[in-house]
This record gives sequence, structure tokens and C-alpha cells, in this order.
Amino acid sequence: MNKLTAAITAVGSYVPNFVLTNKALEDIVETDDEWITTRTGIKERRILKPEEGEGSSYLAIKATQELLQKKNLDPKEIDLVIVATATPDSMVASTAAFVASEIGASNAFAYDLLAACSSFLFGMSTAASYIESGKYKKVLLVGADKMSSIIDYTDRTTCIIFGDGAGAVLFEPNYEGLGLQDEYLRADGSGRRFLGMEGGGSLMPATEESVKARKHYIFQDGKTVFKFAVSNMADVAEKIMERNDLSHEDVSWLVPHQANKRIIDATARRMGLDDSKVLTNIQRYGNTTSATLPLLLSDYEDKLKKGDNLVFTAFGGGFTWGSVYLKWAYN
Ligand code: UT7
Repeated sequence: MNKLTAAITAVGSYVPNFVLTNKALEDIVETDDEWITTRTGIKERRILKPEEGEGSSYLAIKATQELLQKKNLDPKEIDLVIVATATPDSMVASTAAFVASEIGASNAFAYDLLAACSSFLFGMSTAASYIESGKYKKVLLVGADKMSSIIDYTDRTTCIIFGDGAGAVLFEPNYEGLGLQDEYLRADGSGRRFLGMEGGGSLMPATEESVKARKHYIFQDGKTVFKFAVSNMADVAEKIMERNDLSHEDVSWLVPHQANKRIIDATARRMGLDDSKVLTNIQRYGNTTSATLPLLLSDYEDKLKKGDNLVFTAFGGGFTWGSVYLKWAYN
């Protein structure tokens, strides 16, 4: 029998209904459409309003339900549910456990995976390893973030960037050599002073003072993060290409984290890739943190062909970053 690999066999996604445009942001903070468009590539983002639903779990459930329906899959067959997120429903109780119960995955165990904007990328490695070990046959990986729950809408340096959304993929065994081929995953804890959220964790539990000081919102030193993101995302993607003897012609698609169009363009240039091979939807959703990569797969699913070489890259808080090389498994 051929070698066992872990392939993505289905995708689903969900973005909330409310559209927050650059124009609408002009009424909230001192900014303008032109600045946001030229500096980030973002035109609008989706926001989950309480009248529609609450928590990242709501988004994760919706994305998964789409996947289950498309794949015609009985949720009882799922062995494991991983929710990659930076905004779990709450501390302590697993968001993934709630998602698993709500979708009817009653035979699955479930847990959350937190690695900021690299959560989904790292989750791909985790999900694939369970399959490659031969222990499990169906692993559901969901990237879901309600970023609006940790955004300060008086801070123009962050509120223009982030949006809410979710995407789900199913990993299953493959014997045709398709699926995850290689990964190069990195972390550097010195980065946490440049991007994160000071309050709400064990370092700074919520107090009246911490709330007043707006410590429960995300902060970022944009310029520094930008520099790290540009060089590191390109470095790891190049490394993956070299290690697997992939020329720019061999790469069918770059699937980059959607943090800033300029970072995406710089990464593509370093890899020698034409724009037509670069998946983007930042203009419509902004940075949805753990959801950017599966949202791309969902948006471009019709274009992806069996055997296509996909190179994923991401960079996020921590710092965390990396690249994954995956062969697409279906038409
Ligand atoms: O996903 C996790 C990883 N995150 C990232 O990869 C994000 C990386 N960083 C970035 O994408 C960019 O740094 C930003 C989009 C956040 C900012 O773009 P920038 O080109 O680095 O701008 P900047 O921070 O250097 O600011 C330039 C100017 C400043 O004014 P002065 O000091 O030159 O007068 C800012 O105050 O733009 C000003 N500015 C704004 N102006 C209008 C900052 N935010 C805004 C705004 N609208 N929203």
C-alpha cells in the first residue's frame, strides 16, 4: 500500500451579514478610504452583530454546517474537532467542545488551538499528524475569529484592519500522495510586546483599572510587525520551495494570511509568483485572523484542481509564523 498522507477533502465557510465599509469607518475614527486601501488593500470587513449571533462558536458552527452539507457527511463520523482561534467564546471552557456538540459530532473529542494569526496554519500540522499517525480518519479543523470582540473602535491603527469570519476543512487519509507534504513552523516569544492584548489573561486579569485603561483590546506596533511579517513570511515560503525542489512554475497557488496586501505582494515577489497565482480576499473581509486561510480555500475552491501545489504562509502575534506545502486532493 502507498504511504498514508493527510488530505483536505472538503471546505466550508461563513462570514456574518453586517458589512463595515471604509466609508463607514470614516464616521467612527479619523481615517479615509484612500489611506486604508493603499496601505492595506482592505475595502470592507464583516462584523458579527448581537442580533445575528454571538461568539466565535457561532461563526465556526455556520462554517462547519456548510461543509457537512456540501460533503453530505454524518457529523457522528468525525473523530476530532479542532477550533483554531484567537477569540475563544470564553476562557477555560473549550469552544471546540461546544462547536462539536452543536454540529452533532457526538463521537468526537475537541479542543481549541491558539497561535494568533498562525492558529489555522499550525492547526493544519496538528490535524494532519493525527491522520498520518493512523489513529483517526476524520479531523475537522475550523478557523474562527470574532475579532470585533477585541477591537477598540476608537483606535484607528487596529479597527480598520480586522474583521470576523470562519472557515472549516476536513482532513482525511489519502493514499495517492496528495495532501500535506511539508511544513516549516516557527515561533519567537520576543514578539509579544509588538502585537497582542495585555488584559484578560493570567498576567493581567480584568480589573476596573484594566478596563478603564482599554487593556482588553488588541494593540499592535504596526510598523515593526509589518517588517517582521514581510521578511519572515517570505523566508519560510522560500525555504519550503527550496526544500521541496519547487520552482515558481511548480507552485500552483500561494495561500497567504490576509494581514496586508503589501505583505502578500512582497511574499509573492520573493517567491517569483505572478499575481494570478496568489489567492486574496482581504479587500472584502480584512484580516480575520484564524479564518483567513480557510476562507481563501472556500472562495477559490472552484479553481483548485486535484494535484495543484499550494503553499500556505502566515504570520501572527507571539510571534508565530510558518509555511505549509499541500497538494490539493479533489476537483
Ligand atoms: O495579522 C497579524 C500580523 N499583522 C500584520 O501583519 C500587520 C502589519 N502592519 C501593517 O499592516 C501596517 O503597519 C499598518 C496597516 C497597520 C499601518 O500601515 P503603515 O504604512 O505601517 O502606517 P504607519 O503605522 O507607519 O502610519 C503612517 C501614518 C501615521 O501618521 P504620521 O505619523 O506619518 O503623521 C499614522 O498616524 O498614518 C497614520 N495612520 C492613519 N491614517 C489614516 C495610522 N492609521 C491610520 C488610519 N487612517 N487608519
